[in-house]
Amino acid sequence: MTVELLPIPRGLVADGTFERPFEPICAVGDVAPGAMTRFSRGDRDFLLAHTPLGLCLTDDRCPHMAAPLSIGALSGCVVACPLHRGTFDLASGDVVQFPTTGGLDADGGYHPPWTPAGAPSKDEPTDLKARARALTRIRRMRYYPLRIVGDMIEAQLPT
Ligand code: FES
Repeated sequence: MTVELLPIPRGLVADGTFERPFEPICAVGDVAPGAMTRFSRGDRDFLLAHTPLGLCLTDDRCPHMAAPLSIGALSGCVVACPLHRGTFDLASGDVVQFPTTGGLDADGGYHPPWTPAGAPSKDEPTDLKARARALTRIRRMRYYPLRIVGDMIEAQLPT
């Protein structure tokens, strides 16, 4: 079986990775098509996703409030965060659905909170927590270069 690599979206390679050596992270067979897996190095957690367009490696931290995406859901190339219903396109690094909390997009544009269909709507709170949510900016996703050598997946990881 030939396994493809998802091209890293333009400008979203994680800093400091290109000069790093490739190192094995797992076997190709360890992450089935449509699956995601988490692995850790030191204090960093990584998400390896096997999308229909290929494998990609990013942080296992939601770009919103850092929840582990690996326990969310992968549908095609879109990963859904388990915490605030944010969804993110791994093929582009773009936000597909903004988190329910609202907040700032990567460019600083404000998005109001929203309520899922069928749930009672709530007044927008005005307390300090609400202000913190409103000022939380979704970070751009960052990706780590991958290659396949034999039956192993190798990655350039930060120090
Ligand atoms: S932490 Fe993922 S959507 Fe909020």
